[in-house]
Amino acid sequence: MTDIQDTRHLSWDDWDELQRPAPETTDFEQVIDAALSRRGFLSGLVALGSGAAVFGLGGATSAQAQTASRFPFTPIPIQTDFDIHVPEGYSWQVLARWGDPLFSDVPAFDPATGGTTESQLRAFGENTDGMELFNVDGKEVIAINHEYANTDENLPQNAEGAVLSADDVAKLQALQGVTVMEIAQGDGGWAIVQDSPYNRRITHNTEMRIAGPAAGHDLLKTEADPTGTVALGTFNNCGTGRTPWGTYLTCEENFNGYFGSTDADITLPEGFDRYGIGLEGRYAYEKFDPRFDIAQNPNEPHRAGYVVEIDPSDANSVPVKRTGLGRIKHENAAFALTAAGNPVVYLGDDERGEYLYKFVSNGVYVEGGDTDTLLDEGQLYVARFDTDGAGAWLALDEETTGMDAAMVCIHTRMAASAAGGTTMDRPEWVAVSPVRAEAYCCLTNNSRRAADFTNAGGDPVAPVEGSPNPRAENRYGQIVRWYPAGGDHGADRFTWHLYVMAGNPLVHDDMNAGSANVNAGNLFNSPDGMQIDQNGLIWIQTDGDDSNEEGFEGMGNNQMLVGDPVSGEIQRFLTGPNGSEVTGLTWSSDRKTAFVGIQHPGGMWPDGDGVPRSSVIAVTRDDGEMIG
Ligand code: FEO
Ligand code: CA
Ligand code: CA
Repeated sequence: MTDIQDTRHLSWDDWDELQRPAPETTDFEQVIDAALSRRGFLSGLVALGSGAAVFGLGGATSAQAQTASRFPFTPIPIQTDFDIHVPEGYSWQVLARWGDPLFSDVPAFDPATGGTTESQLRAFGENTDGMELFNVDGKEVIAINHEYANTDENLPQNAEGAVLSADDVAKLQALQGVTVMEIAQGDGGWAIVQDSPYNRRITHNTEMRIAGPAAGHDLLKTEADPTGTVALGTFNNCGTGRTPWGTYLTCEENFNGYFGSTDADITLPEGFDRYGIGLEGRYAYEKFDPRFDIAQNPNEPHRAGYVVEIDPSDANSVPVKRTGLGRIKHENAAFALTAAGNPVVYLGDDERGEYLYKFVSNGVYVEGGDTDTLLDEGQLYVARFDTDGAGAWLALDEETTGMDAAMVCIHTRMAASAAGGTTMDRPEWVAVSPVRAEAYCCLTNNSRRAADFTNAGGDPVAPVEGSPNPRAENRYGQIVRWYPAGGDHGADRFTWHLYVMAGNPLVHDDMNAGSANVNAGNLFNSPDGMQIDQNGLIWIQTDGDDSNEEGFEGMGNNQMLVGDPVSGEIQRFLTGPNGSEVTGLTWSSDRKTAFVGIQHPGGMWPDGDGVPRSSVIAVTRDDGEMIG
């Protein structure tokens, strides 16, 4: 195992890779690579019998798409600098940076110290990610995730940002989690409303209620909580969702990285291996906070990896861990309703070779009705994508998994393996169209898919030919779209195709050039964040390789693009500073401002001095019209 102090700077994906290294390239992969000539690619489509339908573009070419553009902006070129760029006629400003005070008695952010535990508990958190805006009694209240830590900036007093003390751990725990805050637009633009009664921080130590099938299960009981119903903290808050009853869904993704063991000789409990929970955590929590020490608290990791529901209208409300939505590395939680009105939540598990899920509630949503158990009682399904463009949602129940409802919600990955879902290329955000019966999932990339390596459960690799994961070495990613049978998100059948397969036609002339709606003018890789606006346009954010070299030449910095669901046209709207991931998007209630998250920027963005600070920006149209 590599020394923890050397691994804090890795991406979570690379960190996982260290825990569970993939085999070297296999003969099988070489055969697959050879098959990926342009000709092989095209004949593969024909073999599916649905040709253009596999790519869902209705035969549109980029030239056709341009003549019928629905986009009210002039697309922008790639950038490689440390700044933000938006189209002509649009402007941006910073709304909130890591460390900005939510209350007037909090000292201004000090880049030399990165603040204190006390200041972080009452300031905008680190590494902004998914977000949703709620109008609460006429006030604009935004809830924003803070995914992980950047210890170089967070703990600048320590060489290389090493975590050396209980105080260091407490500070890191305080600057992650969620911020809820009121914002308002004044003469100087958008700003935090300091001291608003809505302002709160939710951290790694905030008390929450555990609800749903796993609540009270023996595997969730600890010495501090013998009931198994009261957890502390929410972890690695990545993507989001929102319910029609006005609550915020925050998703615990790489929760495994916070746990470790002070005793290297312990036997890890069942299931830890599948979730990547090992003997060394990323931030040394286990050395200074016994709750994260598996040797002392082996059940604590069973209390993380869930979707958490937060009421942004009440700063004193207790967040609820909704175990009914399963325990996976949750990316986001995309809400829909069945034809009969049952809540549906689509859920991606972001790890190589893991699955796409959906939850269908037993209850029906009635405006103004009781919503407290709607996300607790229901059925969880895993997606199976067939090579003929059909698909099925497989119920995770006793018959298909051999587990009872509680265990399905604790060992969800194993349940999905037993039921026979399709292993995917890292499912990131799901988005549901508000205007058409369709949904999308970003499959960001999968650099290590090989014949004998899919996931930690050893599940069969998805076929390349005719699969939603059509490349054995997938460096660029793709977006799969599905149509629920009968236009009903409650249906257990669907049809699917790829909306786009990202690639680089500047350097490849095979399958790695991407699908027909990828061209020299809209290059991108690793689609990740995604929202669909009220017009049905698809806003796509990237978290990829921004080296602008070799296979990524011409792709520039991470970015946000807009896709037309009908023509397939995709155009670039925004570029982020080099080093950053563009992630998180929501709108003001009047839709005249789009809020966009810029995570872990490089350079000294946005201030030009001090330290780089993850920030949320507000983008507006100069003519004051709506933006999405
Ligand atoms: Fe937090 Fe999979 O992104
Ligand atoms: Ca993501
Ligand atoms: Ca990502």
